[in-house]
Amino acid sequence: MSEKQKFQAIKGTRDLLPPETALWNHVEHTAHAVFSTFGFGEIRLPIFEPTELFARAVGGETDIVSKEMYSFPDPFDLGELYARFRSLESISPGAGHFASIAGLSPDNQMISLRPEATASVCRAYIQHGMHSLPQPVKLYYTGPMFRRERPQKGRYRQFYQIGAEVLGGTDAPAIDAEVIEMVMTFFARLGLAGVKLDINSIGCRECRPEYVKLLKAELSKPEIKEKLGADSQRRIETNPLRVLDSKLESEQPIIEKLPRIAEHLCAACAAHYASVKHNLVLRNVAYHENWRLVRGLDYYMRTTFEITAPGLGSQNAVCGGGRYDGLIEILGGLPTKGIGFAIGEDRLILSLQEAGKAPAPRRLDVYVAWMGEKAYDTAVRAARALRGAGFAVELPATAQKFGKALGHADKLGARYALILGEDEVASGQWTLKTLSDGSQSKFTEPELLAHLKL
Ligand code: HAM
Repeated sequence: MSEKQKFQAIKGTRDLLPPETALWNHVEHTAHAVFSTFGFGEIRLPIFEPTELFARAVGGETDIVSKEMYSFPDPFDLGELYARFRSLESISPGAGHFASIAGLSPDNQMISLRPEATASVCRAYIQHGMHSLPQPVKLYYTGPMFRRERPQKGRYRQFYQIGAEVLGGTDAPAIDAEVIEMVMTFFARLGLAGVKLDINSIGCRECRPEYVKLLKAELSKPEIKEKLGADSQRRIETNPLRVLDSKLESEQPIIEKLPRIAEHLCAACAAHYASVKHNLVLRNVAYHENWRLVRGLDYYMRTTFEITAPGLGSQNAVCGGGRYDGLIEILGGLPTKGIGFAIGEDRLILSLQEAGKAPAPRRLDVYVAWMGEKAYDTAVRAARALRGAGFAVELPATAQKFGKALGHADKLGARYALILGEDEVASGQWTLKTLSDGSQSKFTEPELLAHLKL
């Protein structure tokens, strides 16, 4: 790399800059406010975890785990280095001993940047014995996730999620409906219009294997298989449910004729699904049933849902979630019910921007235009007092000429310029200029604060 080469953010990662970050803050504050009214508390999680956690939770065969994770050996475990030192023992006696005293360990743990956070929340639930807290435990999180995907509008390699999980207690359908109601309330509070909620039930350990068998048999029929694309043909073996997810135009008429899971749910799953729908109606939440909604993570059972929003092009899923009873057990905990969702914050922000829903960023209230060294002390005092009263204040670090100062105040979009020259300092009467109309008035310090607070 030449010395002059400019560094760029890696493709698929982005800098979020003001004023856009004001919208991100607004969205996150709204999430805190809405989720807390539903009794959720915030959890903050590590950015990386053992790779094995995601392989077990999300599924080793899923795209997310098999293709999209950023994984590397934990440099602090240095198991590989340990093994190398041990192997040198025969030609360099003492190498193995050195490896031990250097604190190297034989466990070469692989770690991954988190591609999602449900696995981490479940790990934390087990690790902190949260099953002994009053159930269910309701947690939410915000933060960056990492997936090695091909970047495009609404799809990044570092992206942000706002998610929530309900762990423990019952699997009552009321919980599924309340979790969905909470996301919809959040979107409504943000003024996000045109969202569409799709729901489905993908059955349980009892009924799904039967359905998958049926689906696989159907997809394997030569007259059907030969009409499928390469991806779907491969999925007949690895994960036939994912064939239903296909967006390939030529496969649509074939998929439409495949057996539907709703007709193969066991009695308990069918009753659960019916009750989820009833509970959504009770909560005034409009939904569409989508029998093809299977989701790309292995931990789901029964309820799955996805929400799309306008203005996003092909990457229009702004939220995905579902029930995952049994996941905590797979990760080594007690049998525990679970359900949750994650919102793609980048996409949510894009959709709000496209709809012109970004709130105006905070304006600068006062530009302190001080002139002459004698005015500087007073300018510092004025800025402190105004900021203390909650106003946004710009205090130039060096003296400026009057015209230049006012031009700068204008460019920054200030509402007022507080003019402090030698006269103002001597008389204690400060000049306040309203920049929109150019009018000026004189105030003492207490009068100024009282006037601005009006
Ligand atoms: P997911 O469907 O993989 O589910 O992701 C949830 C949301 O994250 C998506 O709907 C999308 O808005 C956003 N998203 C995913 N990948 C990207 C990307 N590369 N760029 C931008 N946004 C993206 C989960 O992650 C589950 N953990 C959700 C969940 C929580 N299920 C139960 N609890």
